[in-house]
Amino acid sequence: MRWKRAAIFGASGGIGEALATALAGGGTQVLAGSRSGAIPEGAGITSFAFDLTDEASIAAAAAQMRATPPDLVIVASGVLTLPDGTGPERSYRHLEAAAMAEILALNTIGPALIAKHILPLFQRDAPATFAALSARVGSIGDNRIGGWHSYRASKAALNMLLRNFAIEMARTHKQARIVGLHPGTVDTALSGPFQKNLPDGQLTSPAQSAQHLLDVLANLTPADSGGVFDWKGARIEP
Ligand SMILES: NC(=O)c1ccc[n+]([C@@H]2O[C@H](COP(=O)([O-])OP(=O)(O)OC[C@H]3O[C@@H](n4cnc5c(N)ncnc54)[C@H](OP(=O)(O)O)[C@@H]3O)[C@@H](O)[C@H]2O)c1
Repeated sequence: MRWKRAAIFGASGGIGEALATALAGGGTQVLAGSRSGAIPEGAGITSFAFDLTDEASIAAAAAQMRATPPDLVIVASGVLTLPDGTGPERSYRHLEAAAMAEILALNTIGPALIAKHILPLFQRDAPATFAALSARVGSIGDNRIGGWHSYRASKAALNMLLRNFAIEMARTHKQARIVGLHPGTVDTALSGPFQKNLPDGQLTSPAQSAQHLLDVLANLTPADSGGVFDWKGARIEP
């Protein structure tokens, strides 16, 4: 599937920027969203501003898109380490309410609010895709080593919301696809502090990951809506 217009929320991030660049390179008009709104505008790329913690900014971004809605929306934002340096918890002993709340606000509530304002723009009778970058560690069934409590919980909750939105949208929008994506282990600022003990060959470049994810998105059908898929297109168990 080729998209006419794509909106990337989090286009200043490693994966988000690579997605925006790849889509624009393939001829899709790209709306590239970031906190500052200062994404460089290349050919086919227009920037917009939003903050995950400011619903009014998300509503304003969606309002700008209403006249010519995107047929692909990707939420590519997210955090593992907080801006104050607080990293993922290895033990329940390290849980802090404020840090947990911040992770959930950024990884779960922010993407949900983007869906709240963007999904109403989708046409009832045309294909449209809403994808959010999740993570394999958000799978409860696949969790064998534990740790990273708030991050895992924020992605598990995100996956639940995506499934809920898919069920609700399927009642009126038969061609909508709403999915979570696991991008692989990608060489970005987010994964930087955790790359030391990775097996050889596991780290992917943002450009490679973006290409894989776009291939996965292009092959989705409405029957896939509500699922979480990895960069190879394999379904991740809930
Ligand atoms: N990298 C990996 O190996 C990996 C693996 C699994 C899943 N993921 C997921 O993939 C997604 C992207 O990760 P990445 O590796 O590309 O990370 P990244 O390079 O650190 O990018 C994170 C993005 O989130 C944005 N962001 C953070 N707080 C925000 C806020 N309050 N409002 C708006 N935007 C905000 C950042 O914007 P600013 O530039 O304004 O800070 C940036 O665009 C995340 O959801 C992550 O959980 C990544």
